[in-house]
Amino acid sequence: MNEGALPCRLPVMQAPIGGAGGVDLVAAICEAGGLGTVAGSWRSLDGLRSTVAAVRERTAEPFAVNLVLDFAQEARVALLAELRVPVITFSWGVRRDLVELARSAGSRVLVQVASREAAVAAVAAGADGVIAQGIEAGGHVQSTTGLLVLVRTLARELRVPLIAAGGIADAAGARAAHAAGAAAVACGTVFVATDEALAAPVWKAAIVAADADDTVLTGLFDVGWRDAPHRVLRNSTYRRWEEAGCPPVGARPGEGEVLARVDGADVVRYSDTPPLAGQDGDLEALCLYAGQSAALIDHVRPAAAVVRALLG
Ligand SMILES: Cc1cc2nc3c(=O)[nH]c(=O)nc-3n(C[C@H](O)[C@H](O)[C@H](O)COP(=O)(O)O)c2cc1C
Repeated sequence: MNEGALPCRLPVMQAPIGGAGGVDLVAAICEAGGLGTVAGSWRSLDGLRSTVAAVRERTAEPFAVNLVLDFAQEARVALLAELRVPVITFSWGVRRDLVELARSAGSRVLVQVASREAAVAAVAAGADGVIAQGIEAGGHVQSTTGLLVLVRTLARELRVPLIAAGGIADAAGARAAHAAGAAAVACGTVFVATDEALAAPVWKAAIVAADADDTVLTGLFDVGWRDAPHRVLRNSTYRRWEEAGCPPVGARPGEGEVLARVDGADVVRYSDTPPLAGQDGDLEALCLYAGQSAALIDHVRPAAAVVRALLG
């Protein structure tokens, strides 16, 4: 595998996992031979600059920064170009001007897609590779197609390297993705459940305990990002809403209730903010992103052990 898909030794990428993917995790994965990713979408420019510097202090290996194009990202792309970040990944859309800006600075550009049409558009915009996200994936999910069908469909048509994302947590999954035509894999959920991830212990433990049916693709945790389906664990907030008959926004139980405070800001029920280590509050009731691959995750392990396990 790999075949030039990723600028690292091994065909394994850590997908962006929001604030749970701190510098420790990203650096550990890069040092283990994979490609770590900083979730850059919601960081201030100063925060993004200092995070990139901190990753560079910890590893000389290549790393990636992800930007979600459902939000304004022009200034962040310009900053990442100035910083000559080795890999920039885009998701939730593609913009030719941003791809060109990133590539003109020497960055490799990967675009996460959920359909054949989006993949063709990404290649036409100049992407160096495409990350195919299947419906099994954790976090925000655009896909309506299972991973293997999507990867196979793209492999039959596209000539750029494909990276498979969604439902992969071990070597068997990685081999299946490879057989379907992927040159590498990108995993999110399995890296949330690592020692280095900044996810709150209750979130990691819930992933370890979960079966595939314990995850649900929903629009429920929409405070902060509306109309963006996401796969999460069925937690107390989800169950309470279900028991209330799945009422619409404005009539959901406990709306506006403050569950935690993060950096001086209130985190309310139905927020898209997941719980991180060191936070206080009703953390189990916050948004616990996880993919169906949670069914395959039995322990919280060091990130390097996960990278090795993905290779068999
Ligand atoms: C906690 C979490 C946060 C995520 N945040 C992002 C993000 O900021 N940008 C993005 O493109 N994808 C994000 N994703 C989705 C990943 O890019 C990827 O598609 C997914 O993790 C793959 O499925 P898996 O979780 O089964 O490995 C996130 C996933 C998780 C689990």
